[in-house]
Amino acid sequence: MALLAPGPDPWSLPGLFLFWLFLLPRLLTAGAAGQGPLPRVIYHAGDGRRVLSLFHQKGLQDFDTLLLSGDGGTLYVGAREAILALNIQDPGMPKLKNMIPWPASDQKKRECAFKKKSNETQCFNFIRVLVSLNATHLYTCGTFAFSPACTFIELQDSYLMPISQDKVVEGKGQSPFDPAHKHTAVLADGMLYSGTMNNFLGSEPILIRTLGPQPVLKTDNFLRWLQPDASFVAAIPSTHFVYFFFEETASEFEFFEKLHTSRVARVCKNDVGGDKLLQKKWTTFLKAQLLCAQPGQLPFNVVRHAVLLPATASADARVYATFSSQWQIGGTRSSAVCAFSLKDFRRVFEGKYKGLDKETSRWTTYGVPEISPRPGSCSVGPSSDKALTFMKDHFLMDEQVVGTPVLVKSGVEYTRLAVETVQGVDGHSHLVMYLGTTTGSLHKAVGSGNNSVHLVEEIQLFPEPEPVRNLLLVPAQGAVFAGSSRGIWRVPRANCSVYESCVDCVLARDPHCAWDPESRTCRLLPTPIPKSWRQDMEQGNPRFACATGPVGRSRQPQSRPEITPARLET
Ligand SMILES: *[C@@H]1O[C@H](CO)[C@@H](O)[C@H](O)[C@H]1NC(C)=O
Ligand SMILES: *[C@@H]1O[C@H](CO)[C@@H](O)[C@H](O)[C@H]1NC(C)=O
Ligand SMILES: *[C@@H]1O[C@H](CO)[C@@H](O)[C@H](O)[C@H]1NC(C)=O
Ligand SMILES: *[C@@H]1O[C@H](CO)[C@@H](O)[C@H](O)[C@H]1NC(C)=O
Repeated sequence: MALLAPGPDPWSLPGLFLFWLFLLPRLLTAGAAGQGPLPRVIYHAGDGRRVLSLFHQKGLQDFDTLLLSGDGGTLYVGAREAILALNIQDPGMPKLKNMIPWPASDQKKRECAFKKKSNETQCFNFIRVLVSLNATHLYTCGTFAFSPACTFIELQDSYLMPISQDKVVEGKGQSPFDPAHKHTAVLADGMLYSGTMNNFLGSEPILIRTLGPQPVLKTDNFLRWLQPDASFVAAIPSTHFVYFFFEETASEFEFFEKLHTSRVARVCKNDVGGDKLLQKKWTTFLKAQLLCAQPGQLPFNVVRHAVLLPATASADARVYATFSSQWQIGGTRSSAVCAFSLKDFRRVFEGKYKGLDKETSRWTTYGVPEISPRPGSCSVGPSSDKALTFMKDHFLMDEQVVGTPVLVKSGVEYTRLAVETVQGVDGHSHLVMYLGTTTGSLHKAVGSGNNSVHLVEEIQLFPEPEPVRNLLLVPAQGAVFAGSSRGIWRVPRANCSVYESCVDCVLARDPHCAWDPESRTCRLLPTPIPKSWRQDMEQGNPRFACATGPVGRSRQPQSRPEITPARLET
C-alpha cells in the first residue's frame, strides 16, 4: 500500500502515526462526497412493480442455509430444527415438497440451558451445513443446542427421507456451537472442508477436512496458525486448492487498537498430513492478507462474504468479496466490493514468507528457503521433514493480495453477494452483482466498465429491517433466492416492464432488459439476442439508442447524428 510508505515497516508505530496524521483530515472531508452510486430506482417492501414471492410456514424460522439440487428444480433449505425441500420450477411462490424435522435432543437442550444459554433463542438445532454428497444423499450439520451434530439425509426423487437419531454423529469443527458464530463449508471431490469455531466458548477456530477417502486434517492450534477470533465467511475450491476467506485480529502489526484484518488461506486438496511432523495436521496451510482499499483511504478490513466468478474465454477467474470497515467514518458504516484475481492469490502464495523473529518478537520477512519441494506447495509429502519444519512457523505470506475496489458505498453494510455475467445487446459481458444488506434490502449492481459500477435498483425485501442471511442465484429460474428469519423470498432478476418507454428502458442500464421496437415494450433479453433491440450499457444514452431511423447507435462519437428529443421513441 503506497500510502503507508514511511519507513521499511509501514505498520510500525511511527508509520501509523503519520498515517493517521495525513489521513484523518482527508477522511473527514471526504465523508459527505463519497457516498458511492445511488440506486436508480428504490422499491419499498410490497411495491407492486417488484412482486416478490415468500415461502413461509407457521412454526418455522431462521431459513439460514440454501442448496440447489443437481437438476435445479428443488431448493433445499436448512431452517431452525428442520430441513425442507421446495419445488422452485414454476415462477411464483416456492412450493413445499416435503419437510423433515431435525430438532436437538431433549437431553442436549437441557444441558444447553444448564450452561446458561437461552432455551428461547439459542438451545435449538440451527442448520449450518447442507451439501449434496452424491446422487442419493445430502450431508447436513447443525448447532444441535451448542453440541454440533451431523448426519446424512437420503433422497428419493429429491424428497427428503426422515433422519434416524442413531445416524446422527458429532459435528465438532463442521458446525459452530453458537448460532451467532460464523462458519463456512464446501464440498470438493467428496470431502468437506469447513472453517468455524471448534469449542463451546468460541475461542478456538479450526479449519478441518472431513468425509471422503482422505485423512481428516486440522489446523494446528498450538502453532497459532489462526488467531483465536478467526471468523470464517467463505470457502472456494479450485483445481488443486481450497481457499478460505476469514477475518481475524492481526498479529503482525503493532497497533494501538485491536486491528482486524481480512485473510485468504489456502490448503492443497492432495494434503495427507505429516508422518513424523504435523501428524493429522495440514502440511500445506498458508495464509495471506487480503487488502480492499481505495487509494488514500482507510482499508475496508473486515471481509463479509466472497464468491467465485469462474474463468471465461475472455476473462480469468475472479473472486468478488464484500467488505466493511471496523471504523465508522462520519458516523456511518460503509461497504466495498473488491475483485481479486486467482492469479494474484497464486503469486502471493508463491512469494516470500513472514515469520516471528523469536529474539526481537517482531514479524520479519523470510525469503524462499532452499528446500525442495517448496514449503506449502502441493508437492510436499508426508515425510518432507525440512519443509514441514519450516511450515510450522512460516504460514503467513509476506505480500498482501490486493483487490480492485469495484463498488464503494457508505450508509450500507453488505452481508452476502451473488455474481454472474450477462451478455448485452452489444455482445459484451456485463458483471451483475446481487448484494444483500444488513437491513433486508437487495442491491442489483452492474459493472459499466473501468471497474465502475452503477446500481440498477434497490429492493426492500423484508418489511422489517433484518439482515439478508443468504443469497442463492439460480440463473435457470431467472431469480435470486434470499433467506431470512421468516422465510425464503424469490426475487426475479429483473422486471423490465416497469420501464414504460424506450428512454426509461435504456436509462436503466440493466443488461437483462432491452427495448423491443416492434412491440414497443421493455422486455427481458432472450437468447439468441435480437440485434434490433435497443440497449446502451456503456453510456445509457437514449438519444442514440432510441433514435428512429438507422438501427442502433453509431460507435464513432464524432459521427453521431444530432437528434431532437421529438424524434425519440417514447
Ligand atoms: C412488473 O411491473 C409491472 C408494471 O409496473 C407490474 O404490473 C407487474 O406486476 C410487475 N411484475 C412483477 C413480477 O414484479
Ligand atoms: C425455558 O425455561 C423456562 C424456565 O425453566 C420455562 O419456563 C420456559 O417454558 C422454557 N421455554 C421453552 C421455549 O422451552
Ligand atoms: C452416497 O453416499 C452415501 C453416504 O456415504 C452412501 O451410503 C451411498 O452408497 C452413496 N451413494 C452413491 C450412489 O454413491
Ligand atoms: C475508461 O477509461 C478510459 C481511460 O481512462 C477512458 O478513456 C474511457 O472513456 C473510460 N470509459 C468509461 C465507460 O468510463
